This record gives sequence, structure tokens and C-alpha cells, in this order.
Amino acid sequence: GKVRAPTHVVSTICDDRGEEPTYAGVNMTTLFERDYGVGDVLALLWWKRSLPAYCTKFIEMCVMLCADHGPCVSGAHNTIVAARAGKDLVSCLTSGLLTVGPRFGGAVDDAARCFKAARDANLSPHLFVESMKKKGLRVPGIGHRIKSRDNRDSRVLLLQQYARAHFPQVRYLDYAVAVEDYTLSKAANLVLNVDGCIGALFLDLLASCAMFQAHEIDEIVDIGYLNGLFVLARSIGLIGHTFDQKRLKQPLYRHPWEDVLYTKV
Ligand code: ACO
Ligand code: LMR
Repeated sequence: GKVRAPTHVVSTICDDRGEEPTYAGVNMTTLFERDYGVGDVLALLWWKRSLPAYCTKFIEMCVMLCADHGPCVSGAHNTIVAARAGKDLVSCLTSGLLTVGPRFGGAVDDAARCFKAARDANLSPHLFVESMKKKGLRVPGIGHRIKSRDNRDSRVLLLQQYARAHFPQVRYLDYAVAVEDYTLSKAANLVLNVDGCIGALFLDLLASCAMFQAHEIDEIVDIGYLNGLFVLARSIGLIGHTFDQKRLKQPLYRHPWEDVLYTKV
């Protein structure tokens, strides 16, 4: 009989062997015939399925709204320093991306995990926040360096507005906002940030879109797909910062002595 040689790689999201490459079975011609956008392509390559327009539009909003947040944030700063050191595009980009983590841009998955676990367990926002405090943990998705109760993050407001108008339900967002109500009673900068808002709204998207079964939602939250949205989005801005510095022919960056406290303690 036939003996099938074992393969060393398994791949399930795309195929480039035929006349036309396919993403989750959808060929390039079809992508354009159906007027698919980046959100549709992302859904095909990340989840191997087409999603309804309200979901792909939301994904595209996340990418557009998180593409950049100025030159002073960790990622852009690293990229700018690398560009000014004469590094190539990929080095500048990855230098910035390496700052994405639990404090900056990489709190989306943990926010989703925490909001899901707390809401599904019927934990009141008050008890949830206090239980995190007892464990010595910051609530992922809450807090911002420059945004506050009186200086709201318009990205968060736009995402909320969209979801309230287009999602069948927003129960995780409502929970996150109730958490924010409580944290704001403690300090004005403990707002629901863009990571937290995307984390909560993605839970709502997954829970309300019939395309995902319960075990798949658990798997997505477990594996942690959602920081990928920030990484994808911010790469656009970081590449922009790289070209900006190169176009401006900026010299090697050296941090000023005056801005360093030299001390032996
Ligand atoms: N949960 C509970 N308490 C918090 C939180 C939080 N998420 N954030 C700040 N605090 C507390 C701090 O513990 C601090 O109190 P302490 O000094 O007694 O410990 C107090 O509020 C003041 O903190 P700040 O110095 O104002 O906070 P900082 O500017 O250092 O941090 C940051 C901002 C990193 C965003 C922080 O709020 C945080 O860690 N949040 C959780 C992670 C997160 O969501 N990151 C994504 C931010 S959005 C983005 O990057 C795109
Ligand atoms: C960002 O999107 O980079 C931020 O929210 C972080 C910041 O400090 O502005």
C-alpha cells in the first residue's frame, strides 16, 4: 500500500501551491471580487473564517486607532533612537515592538482574560478590583499616563460608540466601564484605556458573533490573539517614525546628562 512520508510542518491557514494563493480557502481573485478589506484578511488568516462586516469594520477601527500615539511613547521612542543610530527598517521596527508588553500596548489579552473571568464569575467590579489589589496586581486595561477622567481617550470613546451602535450586545464592555467607574473613584487617571477597551469589546464580539463556539472563544482568550491587534496596528506608526527620522537625517541620539539623576544610592 501507499506509505505517506511524515511532514515536518503542519499549516492550516493558507495554501500557495495552486494557480492562486488562498487565505483559508479564499483565493486572491475572490478577495477583490468580494471587496474584502484588511479586517477580512486578518479574520481569514487568524481564525480561518469570514466574519460579518460589523466585526471586520471593528478590527479595522482597532488597527487605525492604534496605529500611532505620538513620538513620546515607549515604542516610538525606541524606534526613533534606533533610526537615529543608523539602523535598518526591520531593526527600528522591532526595537519599538519589543517595548509592547504588560504596561504598554500588550495588556489587551490580560484585560480580556481578567474581565472575562471576573464577569463570568459574577464578581462585582468593586470585588474584582480589590481582589487584584490584594494580589498586588494592577488591573490590566486600566490606567494611563496622560489620559484621565477630564481628558478622555477619544480612541476609547470611538470604539465604545461604534460597538454600542453595531454589536448585538456589549456586556463585557459594560462590565469594564463599571470597573472604570470604581477605579476612577480612586484616582482620575485610572481610566479604561485603549487596551482594556479592545480587550472587553473583543470578548463581546466573540460572544455575540455566531461564527465562534464557546470552546473557540476560550482558546482565543487562552492563546492570546488580541495583543496581536496592537502589534499589527502600531507597526504602521513605528515604520512611519523610522522613515520620518531618516527623511529628516536626524543625528545619533544621546540622552542629555541634565535629565539623568546620577546617584550612588
Ligand atoms: N490597576 C490598579 N492600580 C493602578 C493601575 C491599575 N491598572 N494603574 C495605576 N495604578 C495605581 C498605581 O499602583 C499607583 O499607585 P501606587 O504608586 O500606590 O502603586 C497609582 O495608581 C499611580 O500610578 P501611576 O504612576 O499614575 O501609573 P503609571 O503612570 O505608572 O502607569 C500604566 C500607567 C503603566 C498604564 C498603568 O496604569 C498600568 O500598569 N496599567 C495596567 C496596564 C495597562 O493597561 N497598560 C496599557 C496602557 S494603554 C497602552 O499602552 C496603549
Ligand atoms: C499608546 O497608544 O501608545 C498609549 O496609549 C500610551 C501613551 O502613553 O500614550
